[in-house]
Amino acid sequence: MKILVTGASGLLGLNLSLGMTETHTIVGVDRSKLAGTPFELIKADLLEPGACSRLMDEVHPDAIIHTAANANVDACESDPQGARLLNAEFPGQLAELCAKCGVRMIHISTDAIFDGTKDDLYSEDDKPNPLGVYAQTKLDGERNVLSANPDATVARVNFFGWSLSGTRSLAEFFYNNLSTGQQANGFTDVWFCPMFVGDLADTLVRMLEKGLSGLYHTVGSEALAKYTFGVKIARQFGFDEELIRPMSVEESGLKARRSHNLHLSVHKLSTALGMTIPGVSTGITKFYTQYLQGYPQKMRSYQQF
Ligand SMILES: NC(=O)c1ccc[n+]([C@@H]2O[C@H](COP(=O)([O-])OP(=O)(O)OC[C@H]3O[C@@H](n4cnc5c(N)ncnc54)[C@H](OP(=O)(O)O)[C@@H]3O)[C@@H](O)[C@H]2O)c1
Repeated sequence: MKILVTGASGLLGLNLSLGMTETHTIVGVDRSKLAGTPFELIKADLLEPGACSRLMDEVHPDAIIHTAANANVDACESDPQGARLLNAEFPGQLAELCAKCGVRMIHISTDAIFDGTKDDLYSEDDKPNPLGVYAQTKLDGERNVLSANPDATVARVNFFGWSLSGTRSLAEFFYNNLSTGQQANGFTDVWFCPMFVGDLADTLVRMLEKGLSGLYHTVGSEALAKYTFGVKIARQFGFDEELIRPMSVEESGLKARRSHNLHLSVHKLSTALGMTIPGVSTGITKFYTQYLQGYPQKMRSYQQF
């Protein structure tokens, strides 16, 4: 399959593109951050008029995995209009074009569309209630995609891994602080289901190959507090876990409100794919193995200076 990946310089887009190069023909959309990748790059700002149609005409993909977004939750609060254009309106336009051209589409959404007040797991049938601009624009993006193109797939994700800048994921946050002996705050009252980005890449490819349509929770199968995630990273790397300060997210002073319980059920996905969805513990081991293999340096070598 020829797959167009938007957001190729991002945490998900770069790992996904690198992970798929041996089995698929990948064309990554990049603004100007990448160079020397083992997959083809095409320069585009997605918000420029006509960018979508130009990409489609030049690349003729079989499928698009749309990862590009303003994924900075606090930055979205400062620029609601920009967040709306990129996270909500653009995905709908892309989905419409994909429907017209017969191109399969996976749109990446977020677990954060839920307010986190449920005492149980969230299923795809639960009603979202976004707490901030990022979450609201991502929810609107999901809805725009599925109304323009009911055959599209919307994957609600949460993931961790090594990124181009070395600073994009929560796992890197703990690694960067703990490896230099610095303290790091760990929220005890924010629960999530992070999936290792390599596992997420494999899962998205399976979803594409199986031709799944509609909404899927595409997160890890284990829920844990962000504090506990930090402790697991510390233990895996042999860092001092006492450097992690347990605290409530309510004391953090972060701009956007955060949901407390983002424990999402992966039952629908697991049934559709006929497989067990990976959990966080094996994911952290893979994250560590990549570290031992020099993967973080390899990622950074694709940075254009
Ligand atoms: N990280 C998580 O755990 C998490 C959790 C839930 C959902 N998600 C969702 O997962 C997806 C990927 O997130 P991520 O963490 O990989 O994000 P990221 O690292 O911030 O990457 C975002 C990507 O979008 C690109 N982009 C932004 N505006 C663009 C534009 N106008 N034209 C072209 N490209 C543009 C960025 O390009 P530049 O590098 O040039 O800026 C970058 O490649 C997003 O849809 C996000 O909402 C992420």
